[in-house]
Amino acid sequence: MNRFSADPDKFEAESAEEILSMSLETFAPKIAFASSFGAEDVVVIDLMHKVYGDKIRVFTLDTGRLNPETYDVMDQIREKYSISIETMFPDYLEVEKMVTENGFNLMYDSIEKRKLCCAIRKVHPLRRMLKTLDAWITGLRRDQTATRSDVKKIELDASNNNIVKINPIVDWTNDMVWDHINKNDVPYNKLHDKGYPSIGCAPCTRAIKPGEDLRAGRWWWENDFHKECGLHWNK
Ligand code: ADX
Ligand code: SF4
Repeated sequence: MNRFSADPDKFEAESAEEILSMSLETFAPKIAFASSFGAEDVVVIDLMHKVYGDKIRVFTLDTGRLNPETYDVMDQIREKYSISIETMFPDYLEVEKMVTENGFNLMYDSIEKRKLCCAIRKVHPLRRMLKTLDAWITGLRRDQTATRSDVKKIELDASNNNIVKINPIVDWTNDMVWDHINKNDVPYNKLHDKGYPSIGCAPCTRAIKPGEDLRAGRWWWENDFHKECGLHWNK
């Protein structure tokens, strides 16, 4: 039992800094931020660093298929905040079997195969990390997708043994994110300057055209409305 488990709803009015400060005080060192180093995530790292300094824990799921620009921003963040980035790789035996049986670009063959790749390269390593934690932090925002519209600032994560899931900027807009990056000189992924508002793995992310939805470049060949990789949505 901790201060978040009784009534998670009561934290909705708290600011991102307050949520982070309470969470880090309650759970450190068994709390870490899952970062893909997109715009939202570099903001969360900057906020965490402001409230808790370089004791913060940040982990990333390196799928092996990321863009070079993503590795560049990881190193810039590492240097600017003097933090290590705990890096989770997929199980090599699972990857070897998957690629041997299905080829490197299986994600384009079917939704099932794309989900298999996401499961092996992202979800299994996430589960492995979450088993060691009491709480995890994300950079989710409600207006990113319909599937995220009712995400709360504090949740109990039913998919992960009911550990606490903390979404400190869930009520921020895209403009608020960029305002924070610009005012605080936060390093960001340079793909954002090339038409990529949302960035995942290289084979599964493209630039968007003017007027397109901000996530239209993710798994763009799929028509399914639930375009998620299984980190936050497992249906
Ligand atoms: S995804 O499910 O569609 O890939 P998205 O890119 O919107 O997720 O990111 C939402 C949040 O999921 C991020 O703010 C971050 O907390 C977490 N996340 C996504 N990808 C990764 C990754 N590769 N490593 C760690 N965390 C990630
Ligand atoms: Fe594989 Fe694409 Fe999922 Fe990355 S986003 S894990 S490359 S299917």
